Amino acid sequence: MDHSSSSFIISPYPQSIKLDKTLKLGVMASGSGSNFEAIARSIDEGELNAKIELLIYNNPEATVKNRAQKYQIPSLLLNHRDFPNRKALDRAIVEEFKARDVEWVIMAGWMRIVTEELLKAFPQRVINIHPSLLPSFKGINAIEQALEAQVKITGCTVHLVDLEVDSGPILVQAAVPILPNDTPETLHQRIQIQEHRIITQGIAIASALQRS
Ligand code: GRF
Repeated sequence: MDHSSSSFIISPYPQSIKLDKTLKLGVMASGSGSNFEAIARSIDEGELNAKIELLIYNNPEATVKNRAQKYQIPSLLLNHRDFPNRKALDRAIVEEFKARDVEWVIMAGWMRIVTEELLKAFPQRVINIHPSLLPSFKGINAIEQALEAQVKITGCTVHLVDLEVDSGPILVQAAVPILPNDTPETLHQRIQIQEHRIITQGIAIASALQRS
């Protein structure tokens, strides 16, 4: 049986949300950037009315920068090691995003804890994606935590960010079954297929909620 795409539930059920105004996005990522690319692709394909104004990444090795190049999206390395503390890094991020009139900030695999410097600058406008069905399995190693707990279903969540890690109002979730022989890698692969589906939906939902 092919489990790669057949077994999942997404709620709210994906539907096209027409945005009358083009959203100006700033994306933050630390790693491979497959979620960044999912956003860029859905913009290119006309599914999400948005523009990524800037990608900020914090790790010089992060391959997300290559994906930005592929889509001709400006990117900027802000290496956290060059900043004295989290607030100083966040102040620099805010400055860069504000300079480009960014309205929504998307944490697409951003592996740093954010501070009030960012959240106050973009109130209710910072969105995160996390590889579990929150509020279960917060923090790092969410996939290993789910395997360890021997749950039969896990998944991913797109939510608004508040000061507590992996908390804040939930926008959309996808459920993914855990299979008997799953390793962290095989499970992450199947979760990522769903992440790429719900990340853009979460952005559209957040923006629609704010207008209603
Ligand atoms: C995703 O699994 C996301 O849920 C987590 O970090 C991972 C980033 O993956 N926060 P990618 O860099 O987008 O491929």
